[in-house]
Amino acid sequence: MKNFAVIGNPIAHSRSPEIHQAFGQQTGIALSYQKLLAPLDGFAEVVFAFFAGGGVGLNITVPFKEQAFALSEVLTERAQAAQAVNTLWIADGKLHGDNTDGTGLVNALLDIDCPLANARVLILGAGGATRGVILPLIRAGVAEIVIANRTVSRAEQLIADLRPFTQPVAVTACGLDQLAGDFTVVINATSASLSGDALQLPDSLRFEYAYEMAYGKPSDFMAQAEARGVVTADGLGMLVGQAAEAFAVWHGVRPEVDAVKRMLRG
Ligand code: ATR
Repeated sequence: MKNFAVIGNPIAHSRSPEIHQAFGQQTGIALSYQKLLAPLDGFAEVVFAFFAGGGVGLNITVPFKEQAFALSEVLTERAQAAQAVNTLWIADGKLHGDNTDGTGLVNALLDIDCPLANARVLILGAGGATRGVILPLIRAGVAEIVIANRTVSRAEQLIADLRPFTQPVAVTACGLDQLAGDFTVVINATSASLSGDALQLPDSLRFEYAYEMAYGKPSDFMAQAEARGVVTADGLGMLVGQAAEAFAVWHGVRPEVDAVKRMLRG
């Protein structure tokens, strides 16, 4: 039996074991998948002990994705762009790091029939969650990305950092108080939903799809989007999508996500 795990702090709430075990059953791959709590100052030791004990693959969650990036000896392009790693494995004696979050988001958007080819995308927020999804959105063929952030300078810095990955697609910054225009999709990548804070979507802002990266509790962003009658989805699809992509990286088989999404929604 191959051993996998997810490392975080806290970790008790993680749904990754259920998701990967369901994928394993679906694809006929026997695996065990545990939760590992790493001390805030002891992440690397837990990673090395896991692989020294014969572990095959690790997922990394908050707050260790940047440390996992720093530890990785070989990085995929999407991990380089994200500057964060959520999937680790050993190959040729080296620690490999990937980031499947953005591909998970892209697949979750395609699952709700949001067209990404030539799309105009508005992302709210300019933190790690936004950084992780830019390259996969570009690869999906979007025409334009606007990053709106409370602190505009942070969005401008992110865009400057990512320029090597984003050209020739237009990526621009604005403030949350300057939201206007027509977009295919608006993605909430702020942590405002987690803290319960309100984000105002003005009438001058029009969009066809709304995606909330958080999941598990009602958000003000989702409520505003639903009130407009547009297609909305929460972050459960992205969660299952990033897991499916990590599963594909480790096992070379891409699992179906629909049944697992239904299972998680209970
Ligand atoms: P993550 O890794 O989840 O992206 P982060 O790096 O802390 O977390 O980024 C949080 C994002 O949510 C930032 O874009 C932050 O805006 P600032 O850069 O201006 O701080 C945004 N954010 C958090 N709380 C917010 C709120 N109440 N209203 C609007 N934006 C908020």
